Amino acid sequence: MRNFVATGEKPTDGSEVICNDCENGQKLYISGGNKLNGEIELQGAKNSVLPIIAATVLMKSQVVLKGCPKLSDSFGACRILTHLGAKCAREGDTIIIDASGISVDEIPASLMKKMRSSIIFLGAVLGRLGTCRVSMPGGCEIGERPIDMHVHALEAMGVDIKTQNGIMVCDAPSGVTGAQVTLYFPSVGATENIILAAVLADGTTEIKGAAKEPEIVDLANFLIAAGAKISGAGSDKIVIHGVQTLHEVEYRVMPDRIAAATYLAAAAATRGSIVLRNASFGDLGLICDVFKQTGCKLYAYDNIVAINAESKNLAAPDEIRTGPFPAFPTDAQPIMLAYSVTLPGTTVFYETVFENRFMHVPELRKLGADVKLFDNKTAVVTGKKRMSGAALDSPDLRGGAALVIGALAADGNSTVSNLQHIDRGYENFAENLRKLGGNVYRK
Ligand code: UD1
Repeated sequence: MRNFVATGEKPTDGSEVICNDCENGQKLYISGGNKLNGEIELQGAKNSVLPIIAATVLMKSQVVLKGCPKLSDSFGACRILTHLGAKCAREGDTIIIDASGISVDEIPASLMKKMRSSIIFLGAVLGRLGTCRVSMPGGCEIGERPIDMHVHALEAMGVDIKTQNGIMVCDAPSGVTGAQVTLYFPSVGATENIILAAVLADGTTEIKGAAKEPEIVDLANFLIAAGAKISGAGSDKIVIHGVQTLHEVEYRVMPDRIAAATYLAAAAATRGSIVLRNASFGDLGLICDVFKQTGCKLYAYDNIVAINAESKNLAAPDEIRTGPFPAFPTDAQPIMLAYSVTLPGTTVFYETVFENRFMHVPELRKLGADVKLFDNKTAVVTGKKRMSGAALDSPDLRGGAALVIGALAADGNSTVSNLQHIDRGYENFAENLRKLGGNVYRK
């Protein structure tokens, strides 16, 4: 048995990532104009590692998770785990978790509010202890983000849910039971919460209208590797047969498709050519199609994805409409928008998933980008030949990444502040961009 140490601490190994609560006013200083060229190793997926860390609440045996990115959100998830009574330790990109000692059924507001996705601990804690108290996660920068589908599904599974002074008090005195649940929208978080509540439940749960994102498949594969009985992940109908217990497991988290899209877009916006190791071409889906439409060349080989954007004839795609997988991911919209401002032609972006997801637009305009907004649902981008550097404020996680792409493509110097957003999703962002020849420093 390994010797565990306390976790949730800020990284001490020289990595650039800092915790949400130790944000210290640093900025990215970017001198634009360099073409990105070279090769980097892609991080593991944020949206996969968070539900998988939550899933370990269901386990009484050791879990070894490989490929875990060093992000403030993954540190936050470990902090919730240790608060609940688990032990976890990090060795490089591996997190080792022993959740056998979990006994606490309450997650305080101070931990819940750090990351919106903490709500997925609810299904896992209920599955393990049959009771859970959490504060409402609340809205966030990109939208209201209600949790009505999570609540209705858990109620159908025998959980009694009351709200008292902003705390959700959830009890399943006779344990969680399997149920048939239909989602009116394929919510990623609700699908994950239901899976987590169902794995150790009594009976069978069927989710109709489930989210089909690759991260759902990754969560299911992790749980199946630990002994869960789940079929249909990746389709709109997922069936979970409850089991008594899960066993020891070692698992590698899938590559981060949104971080991949970010580096590919940064390369394309600077007309460079880069190689991503540990990337999955298949998971990128429509993202690659859009790069190809613009005239970039894409290459995939084993776990390598490469892009070449050196053609003189790149042009704007006509339309990008976000939607649940397999449609174009909302998380890649800000990133692709930042690339499209560099392309000749006009692109119309339709944001259909979140109601406030164009906050990067006013910041990109400071670089000289020509983007018109209609009702916060539609953005019309008219590509511009050259932009020039400006002082920018990161509005949210992917919006912040979009500003960095814009600043890399612009002439002259820019700064990007509010890095606590970017730290939630990108491991060693500045260092990786420097490895690719970008002039990006953090101080
Ligand atoms: C996850 C991702 C996030 C991504 C989003 C959509 C994680 C940690 N985060 O967020 O990066 O942008 O999927 O791909 O994986 N909704 C309701 N009621 C509910 C639940 C959701 O109305 O009970 C709505 C939301 O407000 C939103 C839409 O459904 O408009 C999609 O949300 P959802 O898929 O649940 O996103 P998250 O799981 O929060």
